[in-house]
Formats: sequence, C-alpha cells, structure tokens
Amino acid sequence: MVSRVIPVEPFDLVIFGGTGDLARRKILPALFRRFCAGQMGPEARVIGAARSEMDTAAYRDFARSAILEFDDDTVCAEENLSGFLEQLHYVTLDARGETGWDALSALMVEGRIRAFYFSVGPGLFGDLAERLHSYGMADAESRIVVEKPFGRDLASARALNQGLAQHFDETQIYRIDHYLGKETVQNLMAIRFGNMLFEPLWNAQYVDHIQITVAEARGVGSRGGYYDKSGALRDMVQNHMMQLLCLIAMEPPAKFDPDAVRDEKLKVIRALDPVGADDVVRGQYEGTKERPGYRNQVENRDTHTESFVALRAHIGNWRWSGTPFYLRTGKRLKARASEIAVVLKEAPHSIFGTQAGHHANILTIRLQPNEGIELGVTIKEPGPGGMRLVDVPLDMTFAEALGPDTADFPDAYERLIMDVVRGDQTLFMRGDEVEAAWRWTDPIIEGWQNSSVAPILYASGSSGPDDALMLMHRDGRRWREIRA
Ligand code: NDP
Ligand code: BG6
Repeated sequence: MVSRVIPVEPFDLVIFGGTGDLARRKILPALFRRFCAGQMGPEARVIGAARSEMDTAAYRDFARSAILEFDDDTVCAEENLSGFLEQLHYVTLDARGETGWDALSALMVEGRIRAFYFSVGPGLFGDLAERLHSYGMADAESRIVVEKPFGRDLASARALNQGLAQHFDETQIYRIDHYLGKETVQNLMAIRFGNMLFEPLWNAQYVDHIQITVAEARGVGSRGGYYDKSGALRDMVQNHMMQLLCLIAMEPPAKFDPDAVRDEKLKVIRALDPVGADDVVRGQYEGTKERPGYRNQVENRDTHTESFVALRAHIGNWRWSGTPFYLRTGKRLKARASEIAVVLKEAPHSIFGTQAGHHANILTIRLQPNEGIELGVTIKEPGPGGMRLVDVPLDMTFAEALGPDTADFPDAYERLIMDVVRGDQTLFMRGDEVEAAWRWTDPIIEGWQNSSVAPILYASGSSGPDDALMLMHRDGRRWREIRA
C-alpha cells in the first residue's frame, strides 16, 4: 500500500512549554516524523518557548537529543534530522510576565497559519490566552491547542473554557484527547458508518452489552505527583474512555464534519444515567518484591486515589436502553491491552439442542497492541460426530490485511497536530462536550470523597480487584481476558 501524504500549508507552531516532558516525548518526535513523511514543508517553523534561558542553537540540541531518545520510528532516517532542526527556533518567555513576548511577536509572519500549543499546566492557560491577545497574536488565523487534563471537575473546566473564550472563538480552540488521534479509534467510525453489515444490529435489540477495556501494564512511574491528585477516573475515564464510549454509541452524524460529529457525541454523554455506588469499583495496586506498590510510588501511605476503576454505565435513549456498557481501566494490570467488545445476544432459539451450548457473536475492536478487528462467528466443528458448534474468529489485523506500510501510520500526535494546521476540529473535544463529561463523573468522585472506604487492593499483574469481576458476574456476564 502506498501512503498518500498531502503536504500542509506553511505554518508557525509555537510550543509553550517547549522544554517540557510532553514536548520531548511526543510533540517534537511527532513533528519530525511528519517532516520525514514530507507533510511538513521547508517553510514551516516550530518555535519552542519556555522560561529556561537558551538560544535557538541550544534548543536544536535539546530537540535532537529528545528525538534520538524518543523517536523509535526506523522509517525516519537520522540524516533528515539536521534539515528538521533548521526549522526550529526558541524564545525565552514567561507566561506570567512580559519577558519574551515582544520577541515572539516579532517572529510572527503576517498571513501565515499560527498554532499555539499550550504544553504547560492548565494554571497557565488563562495567562497565555491573555498575552497572546494583548501582544496582537490572537488573530482570526490563530489556533490554540490545549492539553488534558482540561480541569479537574465541572467548575474548573467551565472556568478554563470561559478564560479561553475571552480571546478565542470555539472554532480556534483544539482540546486534545490523544485517543481520538489513534488509528483504530477513527476506524470505529469507518467500521460503523462505512458498512451496512453492523449498523442494523447496533442497538439494544441485538447487542447484549459492550465492554471497553484500557489496561496498562506499567504503573504510575515518575508521574506519581500528578497522578495521585487525579486517579484513574479523571485521568482515563472522563476523557479517553468517554470518547470511546461516544464513538461506539452515537447516532450516525449527517456528515463527517466537526460539529456534526461532536453534536452526536454530546447527545450520548447527556443521555448517560447517573452511576450508582453499586455500579462502580475502584482499586489500587499492591507492590511485589521487585516493584513498589502504588502507595509507595506516590509516597502517600494513606492515599485513596484509585489506579483502577470499573463501572457499569447505562445510556438512557431509544437505541441503548437496556444494554449496559462496562468500562474498565487500570495500571499495573496483566498486560497492555485495549479493546472494545460488542457482544451480541444469543440467537433467540437454538435448533441444535442444548448440547450445542451457548454462542454469541462478538465484534472486537483492538486498539492496542496489534490494531485490528475480529468478528467471532459460530460454525460447525469440522469432522464427524454430529452438529457440534464452535466459535472461531474472523480476524483482520490491519498490518497483515493492508500490508506492512500500514504499520507505519502516523501516531496520534502526528495526526492531531497536522489536523490543527489543516483547521480540522473533528478529532478534538468541544467545550460543551468536556463539561458534560465532568457533569457525569463529578458525582462519582464526590461519592468517593464522602466515603471513608479505601480502594480495594489488587495484585500487580492481575486483572484488577475481584469486585470488578463481580460487577459483571452479578449480571450473568464476564469480562474478556486481558491479554496482549
Ligand atoms: P513539564 O512540567 O515537563 O513541562 C512544563 C513546561 O512548561 C516546561 O517547558 C516549563 O519550562 C514550562 N513552563 C512552566 N512555567 C512556565 C511559565 N511561567 N512560562 C513559560 N513556560 C513555563 O510538563 P509536561 O510537559 O509533562 O506537561 C505539559 C502539559 O501537558 C500539562 O498540562 C500536562 O498535564 C499535559 N500532558 C502531559 C503528558 C505527558 O506525557 N507529559 C500527557 C498528557 C498531557 P520552564 O520551566 O523552562 O519555564
Ligand atoms: C494519558 C494518561 O492521557 O494516557 C496516562 O495521563 C496513560 O496515565 C496514557 O498512561 C495512556 O495512553 P496510551 O496511548 O499509552 O494508551
């Protein structure tokens, strides 16, 4: 398969927080890969900005080491690096003071696409928006990119939205949820709305339940400080898993355009029933001889922050009434494995008798690793011995089905940054969507805060607490196994 890369228009991308962890690990390597792919042309400029004193030459050295450390893409040859680095610049700048703003403004070229990536803590979003405005850089062609976490509850998300709205129109604000940039996540829409096969069955009449699992094998690592103030619900469910749920559950938008898609996602979030205390399980991983447990990693022996959450959600609308959605995510689980399983109901009557057993079709969309889709179908077990039934997978691993080139599809950050430059907001969260998601998660968090019950401990390398298994067992269902 030949990949078709369409170069984007020349642009200036300013990375506020250009010396931070996200810039090093994700943004700079992503830009380098788009440069190698020929999508970022020679006129594009990337301007790092942060308080650290350095000049452009030092920033290029910084970017070189970051790319060599974090870009594991063998397709992108190292000899391309010097060309890319020449397009990088740096300005020493303080978001909270006046240092550096005249210099940044002087660098801007009239009439070019300008994107400002707020790769800093949300506490600086308002200061940056304010100064971009007062230094005359917030024109109609400017876009701002903001990172998660977008607030920590409804009130703070609202305040952030209001702060940004003072100087930027909603059409200029790109709220990143990197899950929306993942290839398979976008494929969810292609699978649902590009085929006749699935959509007629995509409702409570035929779907028994849906499971969404985002399992991570690693723990909180060096991010304990941030994570302990957040927890799995804020870190993963309110944003990434909510987006997956929306794409699975939404009505077909009239067209694939930003507001049509986001209107439909918003309707799903607004239709979610409140989650009762019995519908949610939270856990925290224990240590092993070799690896510290959660409490030791965050250095807070009394913490009640959850590193695992499982919950049962209901969407109160015509399509989904009666079909539960089970969501589970956690750190230090058995494997890094994320998938969505759409479990269909059993056939209403078995003509093969009771010995044929119970069989249900399952459509599995594997997000990572080994992106692909698999449809479980029931067939006759080959050979003599009467009509015995067996479930077999119709498996399509994208890299196998579409050729090795497809294994090199752009990672989430590459795609999303290029979408910012193209001015396409389809894969970004709208302000009202983010607020609606907090409105749904806030009562769960408040319930935990008002309770003295600690999260249930689970063994590192397990599938999470047994109570999470019980959440489904009680309904006569079970989780699919977590395996890479
Ligand atoms: P870091 O703490 O590593 O970096 C923060 C950056 O902001 C540094 O470049 C710092 O440089 C700069 N900075 C801090 N204060 C100011 C200021 N007053 N004026 C100008 N620049 C300033 O954070 P991360 O890179 O990890 O995260 C950035 C954002 O991205 C956060 O909102 C985070 O939640 C989010 N995020 C991060 C992820 C990650 O994997 N790291 C994943 C998803 C989201 P200096 O000190 O030189 O000013
Ligand atoms: C981030 C979370 O947004 O997503 C992390 O803050 C999590 O805690 C990460 O590990 C998971 O992303 P991915 O792409 O590795 O599944």
